[in-house]
Amino acid sequence: MISRRGLLLGSAAAGLVSFAPSAIGQVPASIDTLPASAPVRNLSLVAREIDAHLLGPDKPATKRVATYDGELFKMVRAPRGTRLIVDFENQLPDFTTVHWHGIRAPYLFDGVAPITQEVVKPGERFRYNVPLPDPGFYFFHPHCDETGQVGRGLFSALVVDDPADAKAGYDAECFIVVKDWRLGDDGQWLEMSTTDGAATTGTFGNIRTTNGSLTAPRVEVPAYGDVRVRTLIADGTRVIDFGCDTDDAFLIAIDGQALPPVHFNDLPDGIWRMGPAMRADAQVRMPAPGKEVQIFDYRSAEPFLLTTLVAVDKKGMRAKSRTALKAKPLPPAKVPLPDLKSAKRMEFLLQVSAGATAVSPPLPADDPLSKALIDSMCVGSTTHWAISRDSWAVQDALRLPPPLAVLDNGTSYVISMTNVTKHVHPMHLHGHIFRVLSHSKKPKLPQYLADTVMVEPNETVEIAFKAVSGNWVFHCHILEHMDTGLMGWFRIS
Ligand code: C2O
Ligand code: CU
Repeated sequence: MISRRGLLLGSAAAGLVSFAPSAIGQVPASIDTLPASAPVRNLSLVAREIDAHLLGPDKPATKRVATYDGELFKMVRAPRGTRLIVDFENQLPDFTTVHWHGIRAPYLFDGVAPITQEVVKPGERFRYNVPLPDPGFYFFHPHCDETGQVGRGLFSALVVDDPADAKAGYDAECFIVVKDWRLGDDGQWLEMSTTDGAATTGTFGNIRTTNGSLTAPRVEVPAYGDVRVRTLIADGTRVIDFGCDTDDAFLIAIDGQALPPVHFNDLPDGIWRMGPAMRADAQVRMPAPGKEVQIFDYRSAEPFLLTTLVAVDKKGMRAKSRTALKAKPLPPAKVPLPDLKSAKRMEFLLQVSAGATAVSPPLPADDPLSKALIDSMCVGSTTHWAISRDSWAVQDALRLPPPLAVLDNGTSYVISMTNVTKHVHPMHLHGHIFRVLSHSKKPKLPQYLADTVMVEPNETVEIAFKAVSGNWVFHCHILEHMDTGLMGWFRIS
């Protein structure tokens, strides 16, 4: 027996198929970024829910914590040049997909329903081909109901190691993964999104953690050593001002891509502002044995302690010899760079939408199928935001907005985006690592490579990239902003 729901979902899916050629246009080539001979690592990955003691061992367990493989704060690590073949299975009770944030993968494996694949339904599988051409710090997460699924813990760090990094000469490594939880005293989830939150800064969690710990981790590292501190904002809302209480620190990579080290004192306000999905690597020089360096979020009214590095000299972790402070650059990134002389220019406004528009499929609003249809399109049910007047999606949930632009594979482009809202927007372009050319509010900042860039209110930010064939989305990574309209896409062929 096929239920009415199954039937309608089936026809919605059929609608997607016929919708693809007309609205999405012909399917661009899906380009692989590694040779066929690249070494393969097979990975099986299961999205499923667990009960977990997020508030501490003696507090009630939280139900419906979303995980990959039952592991919170999971990390996958592989050498650059590896191809991950990921056998993904969805054991969640909801639709999902997997998106490989910042990885230059073929677009058909980019995990964006409904434009690169259909949703993976409960019980279904999908095989992802994920080449890892570039070393760095990445993560992967669902691209369907992000606010709810990432909010409840569904993401994993992905570290791509470059053997050449060893030459930079770091003595220790430390990871800081920032993620807040929205929990009541009973340990159960509070509503993930409020209308007020979605229409402003996003709905913040009330419990802050580093690597899942409610108290800042203390990490022992060799005295006088150089520590590579690698930070990821896995939260969908939190924006931090990343910095530390020593003068002996440099910013050495942004979104996993090496840059010529910048002394923290030469950064605006001595901090690096990071929003959802952004990563940063810092070099921190440790003091004498017994002394500490504290890593803070200085954006909070009261600086929020993320991690304490403790300098030690003990058996198994000897102090380094004391030397003058020197920056330790990582090997330069080797990603395709735009040609600025020939680049074509595009301008976009990040703005509020013309009015909260309810997304309505062609069904009575109270029909439960209406929700199922919207869910299968991975869109929110309201829009608050827009890119140059287009929201994702508009009115009819079965109709996505037209592409922001149709671009040519191999051609270089400059995007100038101006934020005319009152809130920050960390903007992410899929499938590309772009060069950030300028921030109008930080004129002295050197250019750098990134996949997600912070655009402050009243700021214009320019990025440049060499276009790669595919249908690629471009969106704000404050997840409620993207779920309520701040998303568009480029067709590149
Ligand atoms: Cu972290 Cu559209 O992605
Ligand atoms: Cu935003």
